[in-house]
Amino acid sequence: MTNILVIHGPNLNLLGTREPEVYGADTLDSINQQLNQMAQQSGVNLQTFQSNNEGEIISCIQRAGSDQVDFVIINPAAYTHTSVAIRDAFLATRLPFIEVHLSNVYAREEFRMNSYLSDLAVGVIGGFGKTSYLLALEAAVIHCKQSAK
Ligand code: DQA
Repeated sequence: MTNILVIHGPNLNLLGTREPEVYGADTLDSINQQLNQMAQQSGVNLQTFQSNNEGEIISCIQRAGSDQVDFVIINPAAYTHTSVAIRDAFLATRLPFIEVHLSNVYAREEFRMNSYLSDLAVGVIGGFGKTSYLLALEAAVIHCKQSAK
């Protein structure tokens, strides 16, 4: 069965109360529940992981590279704009991934327009709130089915 890993970066544990006008009112738990439900309906295994710590995210990507993970969906949050180390972890493991953002980073501060990951990603989805994650899961399932052919 296809194994998909969802990684949520720093401060996303605060969803629901963190700047709801930017990130929406849904909690991370409720987003994960909806992703799990969609994964079940699509017949894929889903794991979720959140950390506020760059090193833990890197270790999670490294483990995924040696485990049976087929595809990663990641919202790197602020590390999108700073982390050469997360970029290197994807280069090292060669795991295919989608970069997700709740907000439209291109409609915000200039520093958010740079991503250390976008050019390595299979695709980037942002600006749709929690729907960005659901669209990413749909795209990941299609991508995995096509790659299995
Ligand atoms: C974010 C956008 C980032 O710029 C920000 O640092 C986040 C969340 C988003 O989902 O819109 O923490 O990745």
